[in-house]
Amino acid sequence: MEKVIDGEKLNVPNHVAIILDGNGRWAKKRLMPRNYGHKAGAKTLEKVCDDAKELGIKYLTVYAFSTENWKRSVEEVSGIMNILRDYLADCIKWADEKNMRIRIIGDRTALDADIVEKIEEAERVSKIYDGLNFTIAINYGGRDDIRRGVKKLISDVNSGKINEEISEDLISSYLDTADIPDPDLLIRTSGEERLSNFLIWQLAYTEFYFTDCLWPDFNMNELKKAVRYYNGRDRRYGGVK
Ligand code: FPP
Repeated sequence: MEKVIDGEKLNVPNHVAIILDGNGRWAKKRLMPRNYGHKAGAKTLEKVCDDAKELGIKYLTVYAFSTENWKRSVEEVSGIMNILRDYLADCIKWADEKNMRIRIIGDRTALDADIVEKIEEAERVSKIYDGLNFTIAINYGGRDDIRRGVKKLISDVNSGKINEEISEDLISSYLDTADIPDPDLLIRTSGEERLSNFLIWQLAYTEFYFTDCLWPDFNMNELKKAVRYYNGRDRRYGGVK
């Protein structure tokens, strides 16, 4: 979608995915514990949701906790889970005010019951909003997404529910992201240039943008830089919008 922001014409991607990285280093630079960085990261995310909406981005999907993140210290994992608890509670409050639909992707069976309840509530109360489709990946892994999808597909084939040709679209419909379009732009902060098992099926035709900016320092200016980079790409392949 074309939009004029502060006199600048921007072709705004429909769906932006972000790997939030660098919270730990941001805290370390300030001689603070890692969870201080995660807290700052959550604040930044709140602001970036507003910025994304202002730019006209319709879908924002962020990688908050991967299937591999359980390997971090017990203290860090429980700190992140508490931040997620608070954030989900805030999302429930914000849904109406920000006209924001919330979805959570990932395997929720391993999460604490109260977090699952909050996820279900956030998804339920925000279903009617369509200003920004905000998706948080929690206990998410791209391979695990495909594994769970394939398992369900096999069970539906065996029960006779599915007897059609196995197409790419059919496989997409068995993933956690079934009702959201594939990302147009992926951003990873903090200088790392890896996918880290994020949306590996869905990112097949996506443009990648990497920045040294640590996640807590990310802002509207950085988001615009990423969109400008996207504008400079020649999107010839796949799902060109
Ligand atoms: C990445 O920084 C951050 C994480 C893996 C933790 C999760 C993100 C947040 C808590 C931000 C807020 C998100 C929500 C949905 C509330 P890192 O720890 O990998 O940083 P480092 O690479 O500098 O160590």
